[in-house]
Amino acid sequence: MKGLILSGGKGTRLRPLTHTSAKQLVPVANKPVLFYAIESIVAAGITEIGIIVGDTRREIKAAVGDGARFGARVTYIEQEAPLGLAHAVLIAEAFLAGAPFVMYLGDNLIAGGITSLVEEFRALGCNSEILLAEVPNPEQFGVAELTPEGKVRRLVEKPPEPQSNLALVGVYMFDPSIFESVKRIQPSARGELEITDAIQDLIDRGLDVHPHIVRGWWKDTGKLDDMLEANRIVLEGLEVPRGANLREVGQGSRIEGRVQLGAGVELVDSLVRGPAVIGDGARLENAFVGPYTSIGERCTLVACELENSIVLADCEIRDIPLRIDGSLIGRNVRIVKTDFKPKAYRFMVGDNSEVGIT
Ligand code: DAU
Repeated sequence: MKGLILSGGKGTRLRPLTHTSAKQLVPVANKPVLFYAIESIVAAGITEIGIIVGDTRREIKAAVGDGARFGARVTYIEQEAPLGLAHAVLIAEAFLAGAPFVMYLGDNLIAGGITSLVEEFRALGCNSEILLAEVPNPEQFGVAELTPEGKVRRLVEKPPEPQSNLALVGVYMFDPSIFESVKRIQPSARGELEITDAIQDLIDRGLDVHPHIVRGWWKDTGKLDDMLEANRIVLEGLEVPRGANLREVGQGSRIEGRVQLGAGVELVDSLVRGPAVIGDGARLENAFVGPYTSIGERCTLVACELENSIVLADCEIRDIPLRIDGSLIGRNVRIVKTDFKPKAYRFMVGDNSEVGIT
């Protein structure tokens, strides 16, 4: 089998972060979301991986390289515009070369990996296996309607009036019969070749599409709250080797619970309460980092408190009187107290940002 990861598209919902960076590279527990996809495909024994890239191709290539460090061989497939998930399959035909494949949306995170799903697909010998999960907001996803016997009757992309609460999860398995379907369908109202329409075409042609209902957690990390939740869930499962934090942590500082400290982290009069990760070269002084927080590499935190937040690399946060909570802070951001007159808030905030003040 081969793997196909979709890492093109535009991350409109995570702007302004995704103005300057690919949404698949936003980190969860200090690791880009995309890396979880690559790792779980490799863990399922699939090492030939094609990655669909668009406008953010340079960054994705710089982050992933040739795949060797994941134990994979990565081929990049250029998509000229985000013309839809089925369009991505269409342009990957030469790479896939008749092999069955698992398609993985590069912004999705799934608990427990995909190994058992790939095994099930192989054992069943069906034409396609799709994953479904119950969600409270099905209108924001592809939605599946099942027959009383549990077969797929209908798939609709983001229906205003969903007929079930079963959303399509961003991992799909296909045999080569999908190519005929992606060539038969027409662009949807939003101008995209929808994978839901292509799978519907498989069903209409009488081919075997097996639905697998996912019971564990799954996140499409396209929005802030989903990112923070994914960060909490991944940190919840953080494993820190016994004794790892018994090392000298610096003057007057303490570590409580499961904390992953990067190389060269400096703690002065600070408390880190896990689960949390602190990236290489970060410096904390008179700071508190509370549960469910990921601090990126080379950040400087002085006289401030953070929890339940994601801070990307190279930020400086200094002298903030209230705790920062539920926040996603982009790369190279400075949040500092100033003593200039007049006494006022001073912002330089990017387009489409959000700032909450108590
Ligand atoms: O997350 C699950 C949902 O993913 C499914 O329930 C939907 O049926 C499916 O259409 C998809 O919906 P989204 O609206 O979330 O898809 P999005 O546009 O965010 O694209 C998903 C990933 O694929 C993302 O990493 C970008 C990439 N992509 C997207 C398009 C449209 C491409 O590489 N090329 C594209 O043309």
